Amino acid sequence: MRLKGLLLAGGTGSRLRPLTYTGAKQLIPVANRPILFYAVEAMVEAGVTEIGVIIGDTGPSVQEALGDGSRFGCRFTFIPQSAPLGLAHAVMTAESFLGDDPFLMMLGDNLLRGGLSGLVQRFAAGDYAASILLTPVPDPRQFGVAVVENGRVVRLLEKPDPPPSNLALVGAYVFQPVIHRAIHTLKPSRRGELEITDALQTLVDWQLPVDAALVQGWWKDTGRPEDVLDANRLVLEDLQAGIDPSAEIDDLSQLSGRVQIGPRARIVRSTIRGPVIIGEEAELVDAYVGPYTSVGPRVVIRTAEVENSVILQDSELTDIPGRVDQSLIGQRVRVSGAPQRPRAVRLVLGDQSRIDL
Ligand code: TTP
Repeated sequence: MRLKGLLLAGGTGSRLRPLTYTGAKQLIPVANRPILFYAVEAMVEAGVTEIGVIIGDTGPSVQEALGDGSRFGCRFTFIPQSAPLGLAHAVMTAESFLGDDPFLMMLGDNLLRGGLSGLVQRFAAGDYAASILLTPVPDPRQFGVAVVENGRVVRLLEKPDPPPSNLALVGAYVFQPVIHRAIHTLKPSRRGELEITDALQTLVDWQLPVDAALVQGWWKDTGRPEDVLDANRLVLEDLQAGIDPSAEIDDLSQLSGRVQIGPRARIVRSTIRGPVIIGEEAELVDAYVGPYTSVGPRVVIRTAEVENSVILQDSELTDIPGRVDQSLIGQRVRVSGAPQRPRAVRLVLGDQSRIDL
């Protein structure tokens, strides 16, 4: 069965401000690669190569990052969405691109360790109007939730309180074109969006079979900063160690565990304990970089300690007194300690920055 693809890379990203004031949330890197690239690769690996990409205000940066698709082995068609009016609204926006074909839809800020091939195979093997992926979560009230009986979805609710089950919808779905008809019957929900869970419930109401499977491996939605750090940790668990031959590492530096170092990086009198990835032309001097840290291209860490963190390109951490831990630092950020007294804290912070001192 040939499926088209629909990748959702619009939205507001309000929970990831201030990083999303200047860029798309789907382009925030984990292990130094945009989250969106993992979704594209999962789609291509599942055999989907004709992919529509929903874009919003951050469209130009998404388009530039993805290109025409040739480097991923697929072809992109960029589809602007007028406003982020819901996942079902995104499908409606893509209706003429999708035509009468069944399609695989994936949220561009979600990561799935087990890939999408299993989901696609289930859909192709059965006679379903839709196949979805579910996973048990501790607090289902923040998710779309499904009730399953004998492998069939019997009820779906968006952010229910109280939740009827602990099975949350994961951001990947396969649909027959009948979904468009279901979406056309929808009214905006209480939060003003056209909900994909309501569209799925409509299929159930029409007595059409909706199939559900549990996620194999892990799934991560990267909506909040702590989720990006979690995703970074999960991806770094699978990191391949390797040092680019053009990287410079002096004899006083110590590396242990799985460490990947990019081209022309410079490591001087520093300790790195993997899993850690260091981007190209990054510079570590008298630094400690501990497990589960991604250091972006051209980042400078001088007389500072960092652990469990994601630091985006061109940022600088110098003369930091304590250890930077569990931190998500954007592009071109400067963090520096003041060696002289008074040891006051001086801050120049953008809107919605967060600092824990
Ligand atoms: P969400 O995380 O639900 O929404 P958001 O990106 O607006 O974030 P926030 O709640 O922090 O403001 O969206 C899930 C994915 O789907 C994400 O990759 C953005 C995308 N999306 C669209 O492309 N169009 C839409 O209308 C919506 C709601 C989301």
